[in-house]
Amino acid sequence: MSATANRGEWSSRTGFILAAAGSAIGLGNIWRFPYAAGENGGGAFVLIYLLFVVLIGVPVLLAELSIGREAEKNPVGAFKALVPDKFWPYVGGLGVMTGFGILAFYSVIAGWTLSYLFSALSGDFGTAITAAESGAIFTELIGNPFKAILLTASFLLLTILVVRGGVSGGIERATKILMPLLFLILVILAVRAVTLPGAMQGLEYLFKPDFSKLTTGVVMSALGQALFSMSLGMGAMITYGSYFPKSENIHFAGASVAVFDTLIAILAGVIIFPALFTAGVEPDAGPGLVFVVLPTIFNTLPAGSFFAVAFYALLAIAALTSTISLLEVVVSYFVDERGWNRSKAAWLLGGACLVLAVPSALAQGGNDYLTSFLGEGLDFLSVQNIIWGNYSLSLGALLICVFVGWRWGTTKAIASLEVGGFKLPAAGLWVILIRYVCPLAVAVILAFIIYTQQYL
Ligand code: PHE
Repeated sequence: MSATANRGEWSSRTGFILAAAGSAIGLGNIWRFPYAAGENGGGAFVLIYLLFVVLIGVPVLLAELSIGREAEKNPVGAFKALVPDKFWPYVGGLGVMTGFGILAFYSVIAGWTLSYLFSALSGDFGTAITAAESGAIFTELIGNPFKAILLTASFLLLTILVVRGGVSGGIERATKILMPLLFLILVILAVRAVTLPGAMQGLEYLFKPDFSKLTTGVVMSALGQALFSMSLGMGAMITYGSYFPKSENIHFAGASVAVFDTLIAILAGVIIFPALFTAGVEPDAGPGLVFVVLPTIFNTLPAGSFFAVAFYALLAIAALTSTISLLEVVVSYFVDERGWNRSKAAWLLGGACLVLAVPSALAQGGNDYLTSFLGEGLDFLSVQNIIWGNYSLSLGALLICVFVGWRWGTTKAIASLEVGGFKLPAAGLWVILIRYVCPLAVAVILAFIIYTQQYL
């Protein structure tokens, strides 16, 4: 067997699109996007986020895929394989660490979705529920330290079990049918939401930019959100690109992932903001936003209990396909570079992640110190979300641009993207974006953050 056959490969392009879309689509779209938009004043944030998806997200996605495809390695090994320098593998190392850091808070939120699934199954969302009641349910759940930790552990366990199974056996099979179903449910909920009494107000909040609300912090969050949502800046797409069949069109696949991912985030916004204004919840309610708001609309739908169950089941699965990719990056490093066996790596690293997840699990009321870690609205979980999800990903993306644009070289990257005979459309534009526009934009934003000290 060749080395490639040993590492596994996606069985088809659709397999890749679904698995990469599975990584991209997750709580980032449905939980994080509305929460970030709500905290950052709505429309102006959303506009900048969209701009960043096109100008930074898509070019960086292609850069990561080109690296992974050429090197056929995990992020650390990939940099090692492409250039002899000592420095670059550390960028891969930063990615592996970031994956671990994100997984440690992401699995907490993912655990909440499990709990909501159980509540939905027991019919809790079939009857009318006000925002206050919904908020009380949420507070009760996440404030219970035992429950929060147990749910996080359960979610990590599910992730470990899939990652242990390897690339196409575990990951691909899990995503194939379920992502399209999630999309369908979201469309149904969106149709419901835009006919609610607060719809106009919600849509205006989401789409009408109020530039007076624009600060360096808002721009930073929009950048972080664009990267986080597309799973960029930490090597997930390097790893996934490394499993991509040589006979298929990788840039088309990448572009499809970007489109699906962004559509789902916008759909989530179209559901949440009308519902939020209808129910009278503040947009900046923080990490609990989606969990408090959504239960108020299920009962206004015919067959509301059914939709609630379907929605939380699919959300949990969407989260799982993302946690799989997070753990996969870490595991593939230990398997490829350190010679661990896959099963041992999945168990040990997943277990270690649980340890780091505990303080985040206790940060929503379970423990007072962690709940107001750095002050009002800056609980331990939110701080992790900002450090790993905004700063670490931005730094990673910046370094990846410099690597592809200036060190490894765009000619080689384009050749890697065009393997299989598929010409990269607008290759000249991509070169300008990856060499100049993206790294400069990210560097300027990071510099401004340091200068204005709007870190959090
Ligand atoms: N993109 C995922 C989401 O939106 C989260 C993620 C970030 C996954 C980074 C992998 C890497 O939920």
